[in-house]
Amino acid sequence: MENFIVSARKYRPDTFQTVVGQASITSTLKNAIKNSQLAHAYLFCGPRGVGKTTCARIFAKTINCQNLTADIEPCNECESCLAFNGSRSYNIHELDAASNNSVDDIRNLTDQVRIPPQIGHYSIYIIDEVHMLSQAAFNAFLKTLEEPPRHAIFILATTEKHKIIPTILSRCQIFDFNRIKIGDISSHLKHVATSESVSVESEALNVIAQKADGAMRDALSIFDQIVSFSGRNITYKDVISNLNVLDYDYYFRIVDLFLANDISGSLLLFNEILDHGFDGHHFITGLSSHFRDVMVSKDPVTIQLLEVGGEIREKYKVQATRCDNDFLIGALQIANECDLQYKASQNKRLLVELATIKIAQLTLKKK
Ligand SMILES: Nc1ncnc2c1ncn2[C@@H]1O[C@H](COP(=O)(O)OP(=O)(O)O)[C@@H](O)[C@H]1O
Ligand SMILES: [Mg+2]
Ligand SMILES: [Zn+2]
Repeated sequence: MENFIVSARKYRPDTFQTVVGQASITSTLKNAIKNSQLAHAYLFCGPRGVGKTTCARIFAKTINCQNLTADIEPCNECESCLAFNGSRSYNIHELDAASNNSVDDIRNLTDQVRIPPQIGHYSIYIIDEVHMLSQAAFNAFLKTLEEPPRHAIFILATTEKHKIIPTILSRCQIFDFNRIKIGDISSHLKHVATSESVSVESEALNVIAQKADGAMRDALSIFDQIVSFSGRNITYKDVISNLNVLDYDYYFRIVDLFLANDISGSLLLFNEILDHGFDGHHFITGLSSHFRDVMVSKDPVTIQLLEVGGEIREKYKVQATRCDNDFLIGALQIANECDLQYKASQNKRLLVELATIKIAQLTLKKK
């Protein structure tokens, strides 16, 4: 049987160029190599699954590459690159602080740091999840970081910058990794789907990307999960039922009912949503986002803030022309109040119904 490799591993970028959505970071790192302005310590921070470990590895590999491309990318062919890709590099060391966080682990590492590299100019130490180091380990490490040997470069990575003591922060060049934009995640997923001969509707990718909340790793795991569930032909419907996402369509429909001041219709639609197993809070926060999306679609200047594409974008544009600003602002206020009161409410269903009724009456006052 063919070995299944999860997409997040199979599609780990191995050049700067293939890293998605972190262009300012990758270009700064490249420039540092190009201008031989390497610092002794780097700290990569940011949410999980956005490319910190990946970039640490690419950076380390590129620093040691013996045959850099003109574009400052690792060649992936020289002895150093091959050794690294085969996990047998003597110059690049990785320590996962999540599982090696004792002071002895750090002492082992700092002992190693003193030894100059056999080949190449630098020994590079990647310490992943560095916030997991024990206090004693941090202190032991600090000494090395204060006076690192000339050949040593440290790349620290963490999701929890606030847990890193200031004395360490002040010795590192810090890079803050961003959550990856929905559009960037979608197009990367599209590329993965094509390479895996999976056909998938673009709206389906959009939903996956939204659900991943900026983390590429999560997006790829969700993608795998849906492929194993639905096979090589993925539709929007598959994805929303698999991920328990409320169809956009409900929101477009309920706004139409609001505009028609159809209180009964909107209450029935809310009921239908509850019947599908969604809770009221899910609905009301989704409704707020929907109003926000309609609002930004009103103006060509702000429509770029809309993180969906294709057909759905067109639907937003159409609905936006039918909603005036007063209605949208009023509706947003009502939905937002409902959201804030939801947790404390004793009768949650009634609370949402009341909000629904109020929104459905907004345009009535004018007529
Ligand atoms: N910016 C990105 N571009 C492309 N793929 C990414 C990116 N960030 C994460 N990934 C995917 O997610 C996986 C995990 O990324 P990783 O670098 O370990 O994340 P982090 O260290 O930030 O938690 C990678 O193997 C890759 O498949
Ligand atoms: Mg990581
Ligand atoms: Zn190389």
